[in-house]
Amino acid sequence: MAYLQTDISKVTTRVLQSMKAQGEKIAMLTAYDFSMAALLDKAKIDVILVGDSAANVMEGYNTTLPITLDEMIVYGSSVARASKRALVVVDMPFGTYQGNSKMALASAIRIMKETGADAVKMEGGEEVLESISRILSAGIPVMGHLGLTPQSINKFGTYAVRATDEQEAEQVVRDAHILEKAGCFAIVLEKVPAKLAARIAQEIKIPIIGIGAGAGVDGQVLVLQDMLGITQQFKPRYLRLYGTFGEGICSAVRQYIDDVKTESFPNDKEQY
Ligand code: KIV
Repeated sequence: MAYLQTDISKVTTRVLQSMKAQGEKIAMLTAYDFSMAALLDKAKIDVILVGDSAANVMEGYNTTLPITLDEMIVYGSSVARASKRALVVVDMPFGTYQGNSKMALASAIRIMKETGADAVKMEGGEEVLESISRILSAGIPVMGHLGLTPQSINKFGTYAVRATDEQEAEQVVRDAHILEKAGCFAIVLEKVPAKLAARIAQEIKIPIIGIGAGAGVDGQVLVLQDMLGITQQFKPRYLRLYGTFGEGICSAVRQYIDDVKTESFPNDKEQY
């Protein structure tokens, strides 16, 4: 199907802004490696997020906290090399920007120089404003991330939906305004009530990209392995499955094992 922005050769932050203005929803997925990013780019995804969810789906950690800047740079550069059209955003990992804006800028510069990505993403509102402003002043586009911010899991103590009470909801709205005013080009809004997310998307001029935030926002993001059915035992309410590739991979591997054991692979044509 042809959408308003199908024919453009490169998605930029300005393109995302015009998509919001024209009412075209933004489609974003995560990727962490060259092969998957090349497929996403070929399919014309708008934005590829090299999320610190790599800590979970690529490295098997329970939280996103352990992943390092060096690791994010390896994932980021692999994705950027494969992405010709999509805007590539790399997550700044835990401990590389909180509470020290000079360190934040140095981390963001390393990401931009060493990966070839188009932008960085960081979690938090007012509390990371100084870091966001310093990074923006160096000409590096910043995507914000509000609502459920997994790097703060030890403060929240749960991955449950955020901002269900009025006080926290108003704080999220205030933070969204702060990020917009600071100059962020978009905000990811994770796991908040749909009504609150829709209100924020209406009040805020920059694109709001939701995950578990309902349909009233400007775009959606999912973790690739989750939506492809590769991740095992992770089925939050907001997740729609677009395949059962986990099953497909297992059955292909079982067939391969069988073929090797029964000596039906390789056959005469599959050798030199
Ligand atoms: O790290 C990540 O994949 C993310 C998305 C869930 C938005 O931040």
